[in-house]
Amino acid sequence: MSSRQITIIANWKANLPPSEEVALAKEIAEGVGGALQATGSPSSFRVLLAPSALGLVPVASLLRREYPQAGIEVAAQDSSLSSAGAFTGEIPAVHLVGIAPAVIVGHSERRRDHGESDEVVGGKLARVVAAGLAPILCLGDDLPEAEIATRVAYVEAQCAAAFAAAERAGCSADQLFAAGLVAAYEPVWAIGTGNPASVEIAEAIASGLRSALHRNELPVLYGGSVDAASAPTWFGTPTRRTALDGLLVGGASLHADRFVAIVRAALAATEPA
Ligand code: PGA
Repeated sequence: MSSRQITIIANWKANLPPSEEVALAKEIAEGVGGALQATGSPSSFRVLLAPSALGLVPVASLLRREYPQAGIEVAAQDSSLSSAGAFTGEIPAVHLVGIAPAVIVGHSERRRDHGESDEVVGGKLARVVAAGLAPILCLGDDLPEAEIATRVAYVEAQCAAAFAAAERAGCSADQLFAAGLVAAYEPVWAIGTGNPASVEIAEAIASGLRSALHRNELPVLYGGSVDAASAPTWFGTPTRRTALDGLLVGGASLHADRFVAIVRAALAATEPA
C-alpha cells in the first residue's frame, strides 16, 4: 500500500453566504467524522473546506470548537498579491495565519475573471509561503481536444512560469516545496461542465509535473466535475493506487451527501484490504 497522503478539498467559491457555509460545514463534519470513525481515521488523509473569505473565520471556529476529532481544516480560496498595509479590500496572506493553513492560488476563475497572469500567481505563491502557509497551486489547460503530450507540455510551462515568478518575488522552488506545495490539475474545460478529464490525462499531468520539477513526491490533485459516482476511479485501490493524491471539488462539495460520498471513496482507497 502506498503511504502517500490523500487530500480532498471542497471549493465552495462564492456560492453561499457565511451562515449557509457554517451549516454545510457542520453537515460535512458530521458525515466525515462518521466515515473516519468507521475506517479508523488513517493519518494519511486530509480534508479541507474552502469557504468564501467571509466564511473562513466562522467555519474554522466551528470545526475547532465542535468537531476537533474530525480533523477537518480550512483553506482560503485566494489571497492578495499585496502585503499587509494600505490596500483597500485586500486579504493579505499573513492575515490568514491561525485561520487557514493552506491557500488556493491561481484558480482558473481568478485567472479568467481577474486577469491573474503567471506573474501574479507566482507573486501570490511567494506571499503565501512567506506567511508560513501551504500553497495549493491550480494549473490547467484550456485545450479540450488536445493530445495528452500537448496538455502535459502546456501545464509544465504554466507551472514553470509560476515558479519563475515566485523566484523573482523571493521564493525559491525549495521554499515552495518546504512549505508543503500541492499542485492541482484543473483543466478549464472540465470545471463545472459535467465533463471530467480522464484518469489517464490527470495521471500523465501528475507524472509530467513531478519529472519536470524533479520531485517524485509532489502531491498532485485533480479537479473538474468530480462527483460521488466517479470518485473511486481517481484513486484506484489500496494495493494499486493511481498517481493522483486527491481531489479539488467544486459543485459537488456544495451538497454534504455528495461530498461525504467522495471522502468515503477516498478513504476506501487508502484503507488496507
Ligand atoms: P467543479 O469545480 O467540481 O464544479 O467542476 C472544480 C473547481 O473549480 O475547483
